[in-house]
Amino acid sequence: MSIILAIESSCDETSASVIIQGQVKSNMIAGQSVHEAYGGVVPELASREHQKNIVPVVDQALSKAGITKKDLDAVAFTRGPGLLGALLVGTSFAKGLALGLNIPLIEVNHMQAHILAHFIEAPFPKSPFICLTVSGGHTQLVLVKSHLEMEVIGQTTDDAVGEAFDKTAKLLGLPYPGGPLIDKYAREGDPHAFSFPKVKAPGELNFSFSGIKTAILYFLRDEVKENPNFIKERLPDICASVQHTLINILLEQLVKAAEAYKIDQIGIAGGVSANSSLRSRLHTLGQEKGWDTFIPEFQFCTDNAAMIAITAHFMYQKKLFAPANVSPLPRMKI
Ligand code: KG4
Ligand code: ZN
Repeated sequence: MSIILAIESSCDETSASVIIQGQVKSNMIAGQSVHEAYGGVVPELASREHQKNIVPVVDQALSKAGITKKDLDAVAFTRGPGLLGALLVGTSFAKGLALGLNIPLIEVNHMQAHILAHFIEAPFPKSPFICLTVSGGHTQLVLVKSHLEMEVIGQTTDDAVGEAFDKTAKLLGLPYPGGPLIDKYAREGDPHAFSFPKVKAPGELNFSFSGIKTAILYFLRDEVKENPNFIKERLPDICASVQHTLINILLEQLVKAAEAYKIDQIGIAGGVSANSSLRSRLHTLGQEKGWDTFIPEFQFCTDNAAMIAITAHFMYQKKLFAPANVSPLPRMKI
């Protein structure tokens, strides 16, 4: 039997989770509203918030799972990718705890963990499967050959799709993170009200989002010049149209990847996979294409430690432990 505590602190969520023999028993998350006013995550403020939250969040995760520190067999943490100062808080905490308890440390790749969130709750995808991982910092198509064997087969050549959501929201005067708000307003709007050009990225399975971001900027500037109340009057239609365009880009590349690799097990993961339209459109597309589609439960899509815990569970079985002097890797790759 293995009992593992996992810690996530790569960006602006401090989270701790306990997993017992592959079953997630707790997943506590402390968010950071301090960034709202700045239109993006302020790294120094994120580190300070992690420092404040990490002890109470870990205590809550242990007590909700009904265990104490002495019951632990290993401590896992996000090594990267992420913000250096933010990662340092989780890494240092995990190292100190593992050293004090004399138990192994497990270093987890955050992007791999987003994908392995699919194995927290059944039904599980059968390997090999393709996962479209969409977050604030990444947009990747990943061929998942087994739990710990993954290959990136496509990715963004500039911005991540989450960034495109958040930057559009900022242009519309919405607070950070704007993705969930665009999702909310889009539900009342017409996705075909406005159209934006799709930019083709170099490479068959890659993505590009910086061109559409600029197109939205100029579109809003021109419309507001004509009618200063344009954003206020048409907010739902703008959100629905932008969201529709972004999701079209994602799904087009996903279809190409599935066809190129002849794979019908398809998943999505990462913060943007919490988007209600992406979730429902993937479902419909899956029925059309004859795919088995997989979407993690909402709480396991955005940053959380349960996904770190399930990854650590697989790594523990293979005794993939980190050295005691491990340090964060802000640009860690799959
Ligand atoms: O995976 P995540 O929580 O953090 C990173 O690893 O980056 O992803 C955060 C991103 C943000 O860009 C946020 O706006 C976006 O996920 N996001 C959404 C939704 N919920 C979160 N984007 C669109 N619709 C949503 N419902
Ligand atoms: Zn993430």
